[in-house]
Amino acid sequence: MAQLVLALDVPESGNALSLARELADIVLWYKVGMELFTLAGPSLLRELKTLGCKIFLDLKFYDIPHTVGRAVRAAAFVGADLLTLHCQGGERMCRAAREALADMAARPLLFGVTALTSFTHGEMPGIDAAPSDFALFLAKRSIGWGLDGVVCSGLEAGMVKRECPGLLCLCPGIRPAGAAAGDQKRVATPGGAVGGGADFLVVGRPIVRADSPRTAARRILQEMEQGGLR
Ligand code: C5P
Repeated sequence: MAQLVLALDVPESGNALSLARELADIVLWYKVGMELFTLAGPSLLRELKTLGCKIFLDLKFYDIPHTVGRAVRAAAFVGADLLTLHCQGGERMCRAAREALADMAARPLLFGVTALTSFTHGEMPGIDAAPSDFALFLAKRSIGWGLDGVVCSGLEAGMVKRECPGLLCLCPGIRPAGAAAGDQKRVATPGGAVGGGADFLVVGRPIVRADSPRTAARRILQEMEQGGLR
């Protein structure tokens, strides 16, 4: 069954921890991204862990292989259970990331970002392909680069799962019917993404900005369950 990941896109650790406390019994995974990690640092990850949370550290590494290898190892030491790097960093960068974790008994899962879900056709600098074709192109290569999974749109999950057996799919840009897309372009419903075979659904604003985050999360979990039955 697919896992819901709550994106803790809030500006300080107090907000993040109260959301995690409110939802810890129904949501296991929490995403700490650039803003929150920059402000709150590794101590927040330790506090989330004491609540029993699993941590997706979404820093989307993209640098030379040596630097990314060191950063991935550091992320593992501060408690990441899943982390991201850009597939566009290429084979040597992705392999360096995986090798940096080789001696760890319990290592985080490594996910490669394919085409950001905020991109639409023509917006990716220097890339003429449609974002979904480019996402599949990168996903196919990631399998041999030591990655556990890729980040792609829920609209692409079915195609990626079909063409890249064994590769996990993590999908942001999830919007329940009627929810505002915001800056996201390639959006999918929770049921649609799960129906396509997504393993993780990342949801931020539709839960974080809801009057009741708990009610919003419950609704999304229900939609995910229904998507899995289809
Ligand atoms: O608020 P929303 O549900 O759009 O949040 C989606 C989250 O997923 C954000 O934290 C964003 O950084 C993240 N994400 C994304 N697209 C990617 C990778 C991560 O939207 N390709």
